[in-house]
Amino acid sequence: MAAQISPSILSADFARLADEAARVPNADWLHVDVMDNHFVPNLTLGLPVVEALLKATSTPIDCHLMITDPDRWAPAYAEAGAGSVTIHAEAAKAPVRTLRQIRSAGARAGFALNPATDVEPYADLLGEIDMLLLMTVEPGFGGQKFLDMVLPKIRRARSLVERHGGQIWLQVDGGVTADTIERCAEAGADVFVAGSAVYGAADPASAIDRLRELATP
Ligand code: DX5
Ligand code: ZN
Repeated sequence: MAAQISPSILSADFARLADEAARVPNADWLHVDVMDNHFVPNLTLGLPVVEALLKATSTPIDCHLMITDPDRWAPAYAEAGAGSVTIHAEAAKAPVRTLRQIRSAGARAGFALNPATDVEPYADLLGEIDMLLLMTVEPGFGGQKFLDMVLPKIRRARSLVERHGGQIWLQVDGGVTADTIERCAEAGADVFVAGSAVYGAADPASAIDRLRELATP
């Protein structure tokens, strides 16, 4: 399967989101970073903006919730029509219930780990998730440098996922560029979030094609 690319609108022009979505017609997903200034030291957007964006684009929305209370909010994003909703291990208090609510609302359930969070303690949770997101920067901002220290965890996560049947997608987010994407793909990632590498390019659609080519085995 070709690698999937999920451009992050965090690096797009927030005053023109519908146009920015239209600039990446070849994207597999549109990655939307929801930040609450509590879980991460930055504030972006919430449900009303996601609802508006859902009406403005046919590209499926990949919601990454960097918020303190994902148990309260995640189901609403799924019910609104997001194709995928990801909650953080470090924030969720009842991940099994919340992941099940995301799925029963018809979205893919994602589970995210910060760079310093181990994957092994969550092995028993794999039956509840459709995508594991491994952060390759500390969450909160676009344009940060890729953390190579996460590569061994991507490999370990790939083996866990394979042992589990191989259906779960493995997403990486943070510092993913033409220089780092091959390392991530080689370690076992198959869904790639890229903010500045896509929206910082003169031609975002070509940047996506190039990233996909580099990451597809
Ligand atoms: C960071 C966000 C990322 C961010 C990635 O906390 O989760 O999705 O937009 O931006 P780049 O690709 O520029 O590192
Ligand atoms: Zn993100």
